[in-house]
Amino acid sequence: MNAQPRRVEHQQTDKGTVPIYTTAVVEQPWSSYSREDHATWATLFERQQRILVGRAAREFLENQRKFGMTPHAIPKFDELNRLLTRATGWTLIGVEGLLPELTFFEHLANRRFPVTWWIRRPEQIDYISEPDLFHDLFGHVPLLLNPVFADYMQAYGQGGVKAHGIGAQALTNLTRLYWYTVEFGLIKEDAGLRIYGSGIVSSKGESIHCLESPAPNRIAFDLKRIMRTRYRIDTYQKTYFVIDSYEQLMRATAPDFTPIYAELAELDSIPAGAVLPTDVVYHRGTGEGWAADGDV
Ligand code: PHE
Ligand code: CO
Repeated sequence: MNAQPRRVEHQQTDKGTVPIYTTAVVEQPWSSYSREDHATWATLFERQQRILVGRAAREFLENQRKFGMTPHAIPKFDELNRLLTRATGWTLIGVEGLLPELTFFEHLANRRFPVTWWIRRPEQIDYISEPDLFHDLFGHVPLLLNPVFADYMQAYGQGGVKAHGIGAQALTNLTRLYWYTVEFGLIKEDAGLRIYGSGIVSSKGESIHCLESPAPNRIAFDLKRIMRTRYRIDTYQKTYFVIDSYEQLMRATAPDFTPIYAELAELDSIPAGAVLPTDVVYHRGTGEGWAADGDV
């Protein structure tokens, strides 16, 4: 454990801003948060809670309530862990910023979820290019209480350790799966499409854009399709993939990916905004409803 947690962010260099990686696991320095830090949490928390009614997945909203997170203060990891560890065996650990890939995979494989200890500055309220405490806690932690999703996250970590040993292309394929599910996934509920991706729920603009804008494609989950699809990290997504349930996600990703990586190595990647003839596309029908092509 580090005695003095640092705040590690992208750094400005002559090549532009570059991400800096850090491996330390740190105690959350809770008493060091300023009034401004707590106020930033309050602003973001209240704003997203309002926006996410009717937009976020049912499980996300229910689980968030179970954690008892409030706008009044930045939550203490230890207190969240009391419920989380008992419920699904996951533990939140404090980190200083982005982790090297293998370190990240190893934490997930052992049911440890790394949470950035620091929160963005007031001028970064609407956009920050790297994960901070708000993204990690507000965005990722609620679904770790869902047993199926909790298992999926661990399986992803195990798959990551394996992909890391296979090579760069396998890692690219696997990272796209994380991106289009854990970070930017949508789920089809009875009431319509809902958000479960952490990158969306922690963003005011994208929470609205992903469901309400006519611009992006919303395509039914398809493992190999996702693993071939490129993505941008600095704009709203051009494509979202829609699951029917967390069980579907778990089932579809259970097979050994090794032969899939080999198969995909022969195929071109797919541009972020493309729609293929084989895609099942969701369209907004009459009223508020969403239906996929082929739905009656
Ligand atoms: N089945 C995957 C593999 O063999 C592991 C995995 C599971 C990866 C779930 C991602 C998500 O690599
Ligand atoms: Co994230």
